[in-house]
Amino acid sequence: MPELPPDLLGTLRGAGRVVALTGSGISAESGVPTFREAQTGLWERFDPLELATPEAFARDPRLVWDWYEWRRGLVERAEPNPGHLALAQLERRLPAFTLITQNVDGLHQKAGSEYVTELHGNILRSRCSLEATVVEDYAPGEAPPPCPNCGAPLRPDVVWFGEALPTEVSRVASEAAGACDLFLSVGTSSLVYPAAALPFEALENGARLVEINPNETPLTPYATHVVRGEAGKILPALVGAAFV
Ligand code: OAD
Repeated sequence: MPELPPDLLGTLRGAGRVVALTGSGISAESGVPTFREAQTGLWERFDPLELATPEAFARDPRLVWDWYEWRRGLVERAEPNPGHLALAQLERRLPAFTLITQNVDGLHQKAGSEYVTELHGNILRSRCSLEATVVEDYAPGEAPPPCPNCGAPLRPDVVWFGEALPTEVSRVASEAAGACDLFLSVGTSSLVYPAAALPFEALENGARLVEINPNETPLTPYATHVVRGEAGKILPALVGAAFV
């Protein structure tokens, strides 16, 4: 049983509007690699931060598509872990809860979370790199496959570095963060903006901030409570202790 800050349970029980922002750390225990920690296996020679860009796709579409295919395979085989399940439980327990994720793996939905604001898209969808329309069916073979409508290469329906977030998604996330009284930052390095600005929007509204992460981040000094450890252990303990 991980040790929880003594007044954290009361903070969670007493909170009105709660926002949780997750990053790739929450899926690490499901076997999906994070972005900034060492990669293993086939792709260890590549820096994910250099593959997840429009420039990389323009330079070498096959390399980028193949890397996403590999991640897609991992994600399809992955199961949600107790951290994802605890957040799904929190959604059912709390009257006003918003789950915002930077992850593109769909594991929150697989865990039963009904409303998930996906800031960076979803790796399980593809879209035309020219027309931006989501394409469900395409012939396998070429990498990347051509758009069945216009022939332009398909790309994963995710947000890459240097690209803007979808407007509506961004608005929903900002509004929820700016109106909450408790903000949980879970498994994110808090380095990538605009996602990393969300906890500050919450703080400006007087919200309390909880960081759940085995490591220190730039957000740590602003946190009301810091819980060092793995999300898959901390979150179930927290939700269980607060509500059971
Ligand atoms: P990072 O790889 O930057 O950070 C992962 C964080 O998870 C680190 O702070 C780890 O300490 C933490 N962590 C690792 N294992 C954990 C565990 N079991 N429980 C809790 N935390 C754990 O990933 P993100 O913060 O998600 O964007 O990165 C943000 C964005 O940068 C991604 O969405 C992606 C990436 O480039 C785009 O592709 C646009």
